[in-house]
Amino acid sequence: MCGIFGYCNFLVEKSRGEILDTLVEGLQRLEYRGYDSTGVAIDGDELDSTTIIKQIGKVDALKEEIAKVNPNRDVTFASHVGIAHTRWATHGQPRQVNCHPQRSDANNEFVIVHNGIITNFRELKTLLTNKGYKFESETDTECIAKLFKHIYDTNTQNGNELDFHELTKLVLLELEGSYGLLCRSSHYPDEVIATRKGSPLLIGVKSEKKLKMDFVDVEFPDDTENRPETPLRGNTPTGRNGAISVTSNKKNPNAFISNSHSDNDNLLPIAANHFNLRHSQSRAFLSEDGSPAPMEFFLSSDASSVIKHTKKVLFLEDDDIAHIYDGELHIHRSRREVGASMTRSIQTLEMELAQIMKGRYKHFMQKEIYEQPESTFNTMRGRIDFENNRITLGGLKAWLPAIRRARRLIMIACGTSYHSCLATRAIFEELSDIPVSVELASDFLDRKSPVFRDDICIFVSQSGETADTMLALNYCLERGSLTVGIVNSVGSSLSRATHCGVHINAGPEIGVASTKAYTSQYIALVMVALSLSDDRVSKLQRRNDIIQGLKQIPQQIKKVLDLEPKIKKLCQNKLKNQKSLLILGRGYQFASALEGALKIKEISYMHSEGVLAGELKHGVLALVDENLPIIAFGTRDSLFPKVVSSIEQITARKGHPIIICNDNDEVWSKKAEGTKLETLNVPQTVDCLQGLLNIVPLQLISYRLAVDKGIDVDFPRNLAKSVTVE
Ligand code: UD1
Ligand code: F6R
Repeated sequence: MCGIFGYCNFLVEKSRGEILDTLVEGLQRLEYRGYDSTGVAIDGDELDSTTIIKQIGKVDALKEEIAKVNPNRDVTFASHVGIAHTRWATHGQPRQVNCHPQRSDANNEFVIVHNGIITNFRELKTLLTNKGYKFESETDTECIAKLFKHIYDTNTQNGNELDFHELTKLVLLELEGSYGLLCRSSHYPDEVIATRKGSPLLIGVKSEKKLKMDFVDVEFPDDTENRPETPLRGNTPTGRNGAISVTSNKKNPNAFISNSHSDNDNLLPIAANHFNLRHSQSRAFLSEDGSPAPMEFFLSSDASSVIKHTKKVLFLEDDDIAHIYDGELHIHRSRREVGASMTRSIQTLEMELAQIMKGRYKHFMQKEIYEQPESTFNTMRGRIDFENNRITLGGLKAWLPAIRRARRLIMIACGTSYHSCLATRAIFEELSDIPVSVELASDFLDRKSPVFRDDICIFVSQSGETADTMLALNYCLERGSLTVGIVNSVGSSLSRATHCGVHINAGPEIGVASTKAYTSQYIALVMVALSLSDDRVSKLQRRNDIIQGLKQIPQQIKKVLDLEPKIKKLCQNKLKNQKSLLILGRGYQFASALEGALKIKEISYMHSEGVLAGELKHGVLALVDENLPIIAFGTRDSLFPKVVSSIEQITARKGHPIIICNDNDEVWSKKAEGTKLETLNVPQTVDCLQGLLNIVPLQLISYRLAVDKGIDVDFPRNLAKSVTVE
């Protein structure tokens, strides 16, 4: 997703060119996370001015933009703060004006780079607009920059000279949601604020001199000082936590002694006074001779962009406010919490770059499989009101009446995305009473299938760039039908070219095999089906059951992931070195069978076939013997008796399938007694959602088979993540 990078030098002379190169390179290290636009903010030519350069597209496009702006690269800075960002669009399309840094005003007094979502940004925007602020972007971030300026101005007008971190505390009191952010300001030259809540942020520390400490003290407000203005709330002295901090006189030389919690701090050398100290001298940043050391700080949302420069890093905790100035890093908090740590350690990172990017996982595919409790939750976040059983899809709301009038729905996609259409087709038909056809994009085009103005065409794609799907979209647009996109990449061609749609918000998917995008597409499509029927009283109970089922899905996926050790054994004992694998499913689980087989083929290179269980007797049964490995979906739904009978046909031919079934299902436990039949148990959910859980063991099996064969899972041969050719 979005990435933050900041670079701060103190008493280390750097040219503007070097600073820009460091920032751009920092962004390049974040590229793997997926993004659609970039930007930087650095010192301008005028005293205390800020230059912002931003561009949509890749970091290379930013480089070109920088070359176009052509700032003087030779100017040197003894101290400087630069901030930079890669953005993955959430609020507003990838347009230049929506790129970060976002600013408070035309003079760039406060500029912000931000990861996360400010959930009360609409209220803040209204408030600030009423106070005369003019917003130029669609981002939630812009309200943070404007809030900084508003609170700064109000306090300054009233004679409150706020320190940068004190100002930040006041701003944070107004923000709801999650953030990792950096702020630089022309009012606080060469200073930077880094703060986080629910979004990672770390600070790399580099110095030529040997530093004294390997930790930084946390500083708390001094309860005896005056309280500043919180203009959005009137003159209330305390904030949400009852813990608004203080206005300190930033030139007060004594403040650095009184504000510390440490018994030893009043022993700190006075020499530090030369450097305009405003609070306790941070013990960490004095060199051995007691003088401030030349320092460089690298701030980032991701260690991958810092590791090249330094291995010494400090990870911020939620609600920490890091304030860097005069070569020092201070950590502030708005209030003391009982039992909370009083220090933040500066750790030495021993990890390699690739390791950092994948976190604790060996491959991106593995990481993405394990991310599904979170990614499925994100697909639903802000869209489902579980208390009132209501769905609001912002991108479809206005289009629903038109969609409901459709003569038929045509779902069009490729590969895994096609399987998500198959998986949800039945629930679409059931809830909307509109006939639905599901099409592979290439075949749809090959057939030159007739499309009419009263057809609604739904295009599903993770990348939003797949050539076959795009061609089919153009074909339908030419024929005048309404087009709906279900897409992961905001700002992708498909997302832009469709009339309306839903972003699945699964986060960037890097592994070539699609995993978390599948479960999120599935959920997005179910949400569309639910939205189409929200005017139907006859469907009320069914809708409510599905919505309550969706609520449980992230937790239930987490449970399924616990099957990993059992799957590992199963792969080694039963599936290793096999040439072929049949996967059997019926009804809702036919899609799971096809998707499971595709995962196994593309990652482990083992032939695998998804078979409709009802078709078994029409040919496939000839393959079955005691040697052919078979996986069958035997979870509970209305077709359960038929599935049981299909599986009996297999066992009658000495086959011993692995059954994916619900927890504590007596039928399967009995059948497994004394036989070679094995089960993988998954929780039960509403029939039309069961595929969300059933696919996870198959994802794990395909991953395990590939790893056991020594295949590079993230780069399977002959395949690309985004298929932009026909
Ligand atoms: C939007 C914001 C989201 C924010 C939410 C708050 C964007 C991109 N999304 O989400 O960050 O949390 O408001 O209410 O700003 N669209 C297409 N084709 C597609 C996909 C989407 O045309 O394939 C269109 C939609 O019709 C809509 C826009 O893109 O106009 C954004 O779609 P989506 O992100 O799904 O909308 P929201 O869920 O409202
Ligand atoms: C399989 C896989 C592919 C894609 C297909 C469509 O794991 O990833 O089958 O699903 O190439 O790609 P998108 O969804 O980007 O249109």
